Amino acid sequence: MNELVLVTGATGQQGGAVARRLLADGWRVLALTRDPARARDLAAAGAEVVRGDLEDEASMAAAAAGAYGVFSVHPGPLAPGQDEVRAGKLLVDVARRAGVRRLVYSSALAADVFQAAKWEVEQYLAASGMPYTILRPSSFMENYLNPLFGLRDGALRTALAPHVRQQLIALDDIAAFAADGFAGRLDGRTLTLAGDALTPGEVAAAISAAIGVTVPYEQLPIDELRRVNPRFAQGYEYLNNNPEPPVDIAALRALQPALMTFAQWLEQTGSAQLKAGFGVAKKNLRPSQK
Ligand SMILES: NC(=O)c1ccc[n+]([C@@H]2O[C@H](COP(=O)([O-])OP(=O)(O)OC[C@H]3O[C@@H](n4cnc5c(N)ncnc54)[C@H](OP(=O)(O)O)[C@@H]3O)[C@@H](O)[C@H]2O)c1
Repeated sequence: MNELVLVTGATGQQGGAVARRLLADGWRVLALTRDPARARDLAAAGAEVVRGDLEDEASMAAAAAGAYGVFSVHPGPLAPGQDEVRAGKLLVDVARRAGVRRLVYSSALAADVFQAAKWEVEQYLAASGMPYTILRPSSFMENYLNPLFGLRDGALRTALAPHVRQQLIALDDIAAFAADGFAGRLDGRTLTLAGDALTPGEVAAAISAAIGVTVPYEQLPIDELRRVNPRFAQGYEYLNNNPEPPVDIAALRALQPALMTFAQWLEQTGSAQLKAGFGVAKKNLRPSQK
């Protein structure tokens, strides 16, 4: 496993988790970033760092040259100015031309239903002839650390209807499946990833217990979210209309026995991060919670 894997998004959530996991497993990691200063921690952890831009063919061809594997993740709705389809296909092309042996593409839950860009890249990759694994993560457990999706104004506020069981996955588990992809255990597979499925009330109760502050769940009007990001709103509408998406968590756990439930994620890392977040955001609490 001392081959080189090019990890895109390495300074971000998924790519960062994948880079750390691959290093721990003994792979060499080439961390892609537009600004190497952002990858200092990864370099200190043993990654090689390359400057590149997913939208720039020459830099991506240079980055992929000599790589055994490529982890492909794209910024998506938070970078509306970027062309996710073009960049996703470009990476498949440069990887194939460079003789890359395995490409692991991180897509998203229900890409074929409401994530047109990711679905188009998935199909392009599947038709490319190169060995691949497609991962479709559900909502990251780490989203609850972000006020846009999580704890704000003393409450857990999302646009999810109270009865909907949302599927959740920890970043470290996405990384574990990606590592299995590079190890050749998931060739040609498309896996929707979830380690748990909880209603927002259950999430709020678990978070309350973990941080020692009672945090109620309050449903955010979908139009409020639509004003911030229409694609996020579209995602929540999909979830509200499909309250039990068919992901077989038991089958995933058979592939990945350490797959975390939300409670396990809270215990292992989430609760400490949530408490630290509350430390700097006490103004977000209500007087009764302080
Ligand atoms: N949040 C969820 O629950 C969820 C669930 C399923 C799927 N997703 C998908 O996950 C993706 C985002 O992944 P993430 O949250 O891991 O990313 P992230 O933390 O937002 O980080 C974005 C990464 O993309 C890199 N990047 C952005 N533009 C780039 C460019 N032009 N060239 C090279 N690198 C570029 C950034 O690197 P530098 O800035 O260092 O260059 C950074 O490492 C989206 O497509 C989203 O749809 C999210």
